[in-house]
Amino acid sequence: MFKPLNQDIFLITNTNIDNYSNVKIFNDIPSIRAHLQDKQSIAFVPTMGNLHAGHLTLIKHAKQLSHEVVVSIFVNRLQFLPHEDFSRYPRTIEQDCVLLDELNVNTIFVPDEKILFPTHQEFLLALPPIADTLEGEFRPGFFRGVTTIVLKLFNIIQPSLALFGKKDYQQLFMVQQMVKQLNLPIEIIASETVRASDGLALSSRNQYLEKSQRSEASYLFQTLNYIKEEIISSHKDFASLQEKSMQQLTKRGWKVDYIQICNRISLAPAQNRNEPLVILAAAWLDKTRLIDNVEV
Ligand code: PAF
Repeated sequence: MFKPLNQDIFLITNTNIDNYSNVKIFNDIPSIRAHLQDKQSIAFVPTMGNLHAGHLTLIKHAKQLSHEVVVSIFVNRLQFLPHEDFSRYPRTIEQDCVLLDELNVNTIFVPDEKILFPTHQEFLLALPPIADTLEGEFRPGFFRGVTTIVLKLFNIIQPSLALFGKKDYQQLFMVQQMVKQLNLPIEIIASETVRASDGLALSSRNQYLEKSQRSEASYLFQTLNYIKEEIISSHKDFASLQEKSMQQLTKRGWKVDYIQICNRISLAPAQNRNEPLVILAAAWLDKTRLIDNVEV
């Protein structure tokens, strides 16, 4: 399923990333390992770059937890399906380094594909069935790609803490499960979703939205809040609530992948209001796929 690396290997070239005062940028594994070998209690924020206020909040949170913050920037081919936006995913390394410099993050890991995948990545994690639900149902192999790269990065950086945003709720869940079941000595910290003033969760993919779609995009969050309010005011029929909300979005021109009320601890479909709940959704606004969630 995963495409071997060939002619379109992504290399870090044509960048001016040596010009930042405080930032140390590492492109290869031996040099970042050497730099980090004496460092205690590293807080790690893995990213695919194109940093926005959501990432910056995660990084600020990391800085509160440790003096030693490492940010990685790597667009991970393993987590994209062949028809997805791997090639057009925004790559803005220079701009990202300026932002990290401003935040006084001084260690950035920006490996090329040939550094992280010198050969075809044949060792991949086998994941539990929950990885094939929700996002995994619509993006088969996504969580295998995410957890494999996160595990590789953890092995390279060897952090004590790693921070993930709640916007990617199921990703956070999968990483927490991986750390637990593989006994990794890393504490996973969940950071709250950062939203635009109208509620739209910040995401690099928001920039694919046409101007005319931008205000409609916040309707996904409004829908999740509507479901939350209904549950709080004692609506018990989750299936009809999900169905009605999907229909409303569809009427407005959205293509809904899923809206699912789940148990927050297991991410299995929830049965009743007494469970700790999270409502998860993914839907397309024309060519842009948005995901979001709200805890109840
Ligand atoms: O959330 C992301 O940006 C990516 O999935 C991650 C965790 C950096 C792995 O590539």
